[in-house]
Amino acid sequence: MWGTAPRNLPKSRFVTYISNRVRQMRELISAKNLHKSFAELHAVKGVSLQVNAGEVVGFLGPNGAGKTTTMRMLTGFLDPSAGSVSLDGFSLADDPLAAQNTFGYLPEGAPAYPEMTVREYLQFIARARGIARREIAGKIADVAGRVHLRGVLDQVIETLSKGFKRRVGIAQAIIHDPPILIMDEPTDGLDPNQKHEVRELIRTMGSTKAIVLSTHILEEVEAVCTRAVVIAAGRVVFDGTPEEFELIAPASVTRNRMDYVFRQLTATAAEVAQ
Ligand SMILES: Nc1ncnc2c1ncn2[C@@H]1O[C@H](COP(=O)(O)OP(=O)(O)O)[C@@H](O)[C@H]1O
Ligand SMILES: [Mg+2]
Repeated sequence: MWGTAPRNLPKSRFVTYISNRVRQMRELISAKNLHKSFAELHAVKGVSLQVNAGEVVGFLGPNGAGKTTTMRMLTGFLDPSAGSVSLDGFSLADDPLAAQNTFGYLPEGAPAYPEMTVREYLQFIARARGIARREIAGKIADVAGRVHLRGVLDQVIETLSKGFKRRVGIAQAIIHDPPILIMDEPTDGLDPNQKHEVRELIRTMGSTKAIVLSTHILEEVEAVCTRAVVIAAGRVVFDGTPEEFELIAPASVTRNRMDYVFRQLTATAAEVAQ
């Protein structure tokens, strides 16, 4: 559980090492037995998910598997039909205000309020996040530097390219430096350079935060995630490291091993659901 501490560390570095490990083990997301029904459709069927600080979870599944619905329940944007969510120890149902302060959320698609400039939008979000007025300009400058938005702060959001719109979405999700980040397809529709940039940012933030990101791109999971969770037809069908995921493929499969495993896991679940 503790991993192995590097040998011969001086005492002061050993203390730092252990305190980092303890911080990483802090359970930040705890979702238990989440269900969601839309009229006749039982879209999410008992999803449980525990995520510690320091983990970057790739949330995978075919279209319609229930990823967005689950993420919306994790962030309180959608009430579960059953089950519960705690974020950094705060129950979403019992203590929603405290729970809402613990995370940033990048929803699918482009940011709301397309008629605002980037600066106006981030000011609006910062106020809604309870950041003190005197700190807002500094926070915006800081986040704009991190996601490379400085040159477009006074441009209207709807006139930005897709890549810049996504950066605005990421900026609003991290402006208050939350311990938890939930991102719905953060690299969808971006070009390879933009994808690389977003992945680097996620990797950097992943050492201290709990991050859940949905994606269709299996290489992305290998590149940035410490863990893969696969859902199919509303149920978790795999939860483990990317290495464990790949090892499900028999040795005879030599190319696109992750694709092979993904198809195997999700096809079986879809058949069972019929
Ligand atoms: N608001 C809604 N009303 C009715 N059905 C919905 C709603 N949101 C999602 N669904 C359905 O729930 C299932 C899961 O959708 P979703 O969570 O968006 O999947 P994913 O993000 O994995 O592609 C799909 O069949 C979808 O059509
Ligand atoms: Mg989705």
